Amino acid sequence: MLLEIKNLDAGYGYLQILRGVSLKIDKGEYVCIVGPNGAGKSTTMKSIAGLISPTAGSILFNGEEIAGLATNLITKKGISFVSEEMNLFVNMTVRENLFMGAYIIDDKKIQNERLDFVFDLFPRLAERKGQLAGTMSGGERKMLAIGRGMMSDPKLLMVDEPSFGLAPQLTENVFESLDILVKAGVTILLVEQNVTKTLSVTDRGYILENGKIGLEGKSKDLACDPHVKKVFLGV
Ligand SMILES: Nc1ncnc2c1ncn2[C@@H]1O[C@H](COP(=O)(O)OP(=O)(O)O)[C@@H](O)[C@H]1O
Ligand SMILES: [Mg+2]
Repeated sequence: MLLEIKNLDAGYGYLQILRGVSLKIDKGEYVCIVGPNGAGKSTTMKSIAGLISPTAGSILFNGEEIAGLATNLITKKGISFVSEEMNLFVNMTVRENLFMGAYIIDDKKIQNERLDFVFDLFPRLAERKGQLAGTMSGGERKMLAIGRGMMSDPKLLMVDEPSFGLAPQLTENVFESLDILVKAGVTILLVEQNVTKTLSVTDRGYILENGKIGLEGKSKDLACDPHVKKVFLGV
């Protein structure tokens, strides 16, 4: 098991959001968390990435406890988090932004190899390497954020709502980018608003409601589940 979360509680100050969340991801799997707004999806990812400290429970990565470790140490262990906000450096070029994602790698040669790898995955970024990130289109910026997440050579890539705010065609492009990574063998944890699409592309999924995992299973089974249909698809 690559990632194994057991009975995780987390929140903000006295406000508890996650209540006993448990989930697992195997190497090479494409797993999603879906749930209504405010359910705690981003909070789950932030806990894994070390941006907030869990108040109870455990997060094992490759069998090693990482709950409460600092973000840079978690990145070093092989977890990369592409947040909703992306936090791109708008006044820096595509290439400079990508190198920021390799900050945990000291060896310049390895950094350059990672850059070539990301450019191979996303030729569009190679074409635009000298362009300022702030002048890229919405879809290109998402691709850049995902590419930057890949610069540290993660064993697990977490992507939070990559299609948020994008037009349907650009959403399609984002899913294609993720598909390229899946085919390259990257393990992905995806949070998405677009439930139908997400359940059609991922292997397995977890339904998070009010800080608790309600349902879990193969994505294709979840897509047919009456509760999922009622809550997310308005059926
Ligand atoms: N920094 C924060 N401080 C206080 N409350 C927060 C903070 N971030 C999120 N929350 C609250 O935590 C709950 C879960 O948020 P979040 O994990 O972002 O939900 P989701 O990603 O599923 O939409 C929400 O009620 C939200 O208002
Ligand atoms: Mg969120």
